[in-house]
Amino acid sequence: MLLRNAKIIFNKPVSAELYHMGLLCPDIAAKIQPGQFLMVRIQDRLDPLLRRPFAVHRLYPNDPPGSFEMLYKVVGRGTQLLANMQRGDFLNLLGPLGRGFRLPQDKGFVLMVAGGIGIAPLPYLAETLAASGNKGPFVLWFGGKTSTDLVCVQHFNDLGFAVQLVTEDGSEGKKGLVTGHLEQWLTQQDELPKVMYSCGPYLMQRSVAEMAARLGIPSQLSMEALMGCGVGACLSCSLRCHPPKGVQDPHYANVCQDGPVFDGEEIFWD
Ligand SMILES: Cc1cc2nc3c(=O)[nH]c(=O)nc-3n(C[C@H](O)[C@H](O)[C@H](O)COP(=O)(O)OP(=O)(O)OC[C@H]3O[C@@H](n4cnc5c(N)ncnc54)[C@H](O)[C@@H]3O)c2cc1C
Ligand code: FES
Repeated sequence: MLLRNAKIIFNKPVSAELYHMGLLCPDIAAKIQPGQFLMVRIQDRLDPLLRRPFAVHRLYPNDPPGSFEMLYKVVGRGTQLLANMQRGDFLNLLGPLGRGFRLPQDKGFVLMVAGGIGIAPLPYLAETLAASGNKGPFVLWFGGKTSTDLVCVQHFNDLGFAVQLVTEDGSEGKKGLVTGHLEQWLTQQDELPKVMYSCGPYLMQRSVAEMAARLGIPSQLSMEALMGCGVGACLSCSLRCHPPKGVQDPHYANVCQDGPVFDGEEIFWD
């Protein structure tokens, strides 16, 4: 785990609420794995006091070397302050933290599912997967409330992904929820994916995990939680999981250390 200052190399809106921020920090870029996260200290002042967790969205090994990008959604005070920051400003980063995505042992069909800002960690995973020699097929199912939530689609297309879009208001792609369309589509495929990767709201994650279990597909889910410290000290990020064999008492994992990526069957869905 490193503590480093990173220089902002760009910070630009992608839609009314979403921003891409490029950061230069070679030490962290050299270490971080897809699905791991950084605790970002937004200001040197006491407000906001706590660091905020963010995934790495894309890695740029060459342009410039040691740089990477975050995709963030403005939801509150910390992310609004981020949106006001300028090229040349610095952010203090703690990381890489947590357990990221694991690549499938067998090459072949990979399915990703994203809901809203849950798309954030998946391009880096997709790039790593494509670079691993896996030829796919790769499919992304991406859902949002409305069309402006559906960002980065071209990047997935460029990596060879077939992308299925779903919006709740029907403004782009199929109308409804991703999970409302996905299972029927899956049961129509000649082969099932080797793995399903997912990131999005809790209820979507639960549907994905239950669907994967019904179909016998391994699933890896990046879970969100309120995080006070990011390093296992404050217990604000507890997630109820199934206890190890032979243990009766409820078992709680820390999303920051044991996750944020969990196997679907590890989680006790309540
Ligand atoms: C491992 C991990 C990786 C993340 N990666 C990204 C990312 O790449 N891009 C991105 O936009 N966001 C990401 N998030 C969520 C992001 O950390 C929060 O949106 C951010 O901390 C909000 O800060 P704020 O000060 O703007 O909002 P606050 O003022 O702190 O809160 C505003 C609202 O957002 C809710 N909220 C705050 N934090 C979270 C959270 N962690 N999960 C769910 N709801 C929350 C609060 O309950 C409140 O309703 C990630 C979260 C985790 C746990
Ligand atoms: S965020 Fe403090 S224990 Fe996980």
